[in-house]
Amino acid sequence: MADLPDLGGRLVVVDEQWIGLFKTDQGVFAIDAMCPHAGANLAKGNVCDGVVSCPVHLWRFRLSDGKYLDADADRFNVKTYAVHIEGEQLLVELPVVPNSVRLI
Ligand code: FES
Repeated sequence: MADLPDLGGRLVVVDEQWIGLFKTDQGVFAIDAMCPHAGANLAKGNVCDGVVSCPVHLWRFRLSDGKYLDADADRFNVKTYAVHIEGEQLLVELPVVPNSVRLI
């Protein structure tokens, strides 16, 4: 948990899958971090009011459900993953990967 910036993101890679972890005023969120537009790292985007903006072309995604917010185009939504906090550890449920991510 301490490794996560306040109001920002961090990229972790699990089995070649990019996972963006975000600590916000609304809680901690995990989403697929590869932008569906052109593959930028969403974990480097600015976060405001629970929304991350892609650092390249500024597409916006809601962290709570991964919804793409700039058009009615659900095909651009990103996956989200349940996050559990145990003390200083962050556990992310990744359904396609048998292991969880742990940050200490
Ligand atoms: S790469 Fe993310 S909006 Fe273009």
